[in-house]
Amino acid sequence: MYRLSCIHCGAEYAPGEIIYTCKKCGHLLTVNYDLDAISVTKKEWEQRPLSVWRYRELLPVTIKPVTLQEGGTPLYHLERLGKELGLPHLYAKHEGMNPSGSFKDRGMTVGVSMAIQLGMKSVACASTGNTSASLAVYAAKAGIPAVVLLPAGKVALGKVAQALMHGAKVIAIRDNFDVALALVRELCIKHGIYLLNSINPYRLEGQKTIGFESVDQLGEVPDRLVLPVGNAGNISAVYKGLKELETLGFIDRLPKMTGIQAAGSQPLVRAIQGNLGEVVPDEHPETVATAIRIGAPVNAEKALIAIRATGGTAASVTDEEILAMQRALAQKEGIGVEPASAASVAGIKKLVEEGAIDRDEKIVCVVTGHLLKDPETVIKQCPPPIEIDATEQALLSVLHL
Ligand code: F0G
Repeated sequence: MYRLSCIHCGAEYAPGEIIYTCKKCGHLLTVNYDLDAISVTKKEWEQRPLSVWRYRELLPVTIKPVTLQEGGTPLYHLERLGKELGLPHLYAKHEGMNPSGSFKDRGMTVGVSMAIQLGMKSVACASTGNTSASLAVYAAKAGIPAVVLLPAGKVALGKVAQALMHGAKVIAIRDNFDVALALVRELCIKHGIYLLNSINPYRLEGQKTIGFESVDQLGEVPDRLVLPVGNAGNISAVYKGLKELETLGFIDRLPKMTGIQAAGSQPLVRAIQGNLGEVVPDEHPETVATAIRIGAPVNAEKALIAIRATGGTAASVTDEEILAMQRALAQKEGIGVEPASAASVAGIKKLVEEGAIDRDEKIVCVVTGHLLKDPETVIKQCPPPIEIDATEQALLSVLHL
């Protein structure tokens, strides 16, 4: 039992209405459950496999879901890096281990299931890459067509490869993500295509399970949850979910929600640090972490609440810091992530060095996408393979043995 409601004016809408923002005031919508009517226990959840669908009582899907077994991703203790940073309780939740290699699958299993539940015949999104890959995957599983709009020349190779191979109609827009999103929103509203960007409140429902799993895996509520921020959907979703757990009495406190952006694309950080009422967009966002190259985060209003209500913070990291952390995670922890994902851990490094956080905190950094998403940025940072003649002598000489 749930309704859609506006986070700004409180207007309510029936769950079956195809609507992405409030008809009265234009602000964001959220899914409101009748939590009093939810009778599931924590124990029942714990008996199910760790996955998005463990938490189905807090999801809007009532049909058989379109699923590829998403979620249940590993939570790694970063022992080496934690030691270096003086953070004994530093963890990474590796969302790159989802079916399409990013956390977007949590949103898409729910979002595409909702498209079917609502009787929609086709789906679309704008994307910096991962959303398009995930949408293509889940549309293929559901057997419906998908259209994806990408900023031309600014999407990592692996993500384009996935969107193409899984059969989406892939369209490259000669402009940035923010413009592509405005275009696809219009398209969907005018032509009855189901929009699956994170402005869609049902998609975010799936993503909130990152927070649920983090609590279940850690065995307690982390003191801080750190996420890279682009459109600010994920940080908002995780906060919303944990608030629900708190209301249900399953947890007794919330983690400090902490958002990390790239220095060349940090409207949310400016709003938090400047204590602004709303986000002022970056006209020309730029960063090597193309996944979060977003100047006008559509979910900013929700994210500002999430960060402020939990005593969290937002910080930015340079491209150099992002890439250095991508290498550190790969080489010191065996965790392969794409640049945007490394931003969360790079942000914690920066915050701890600035003395902004307590070293005893239990910190979960969400690392959002797999290393193989962006092979070009990897290859640019690494020396090429050493090519030799196929002789033992040549081999020993390059190994200096
Ligand atoms: N990390 C990765 C790897 C992403 O792909 C994204 C967003 C984010 C973090 C930020 O999440 O937008 O919820 O704040 N990628 C979107 C896309 C925009 O189109 O794939 P957010």
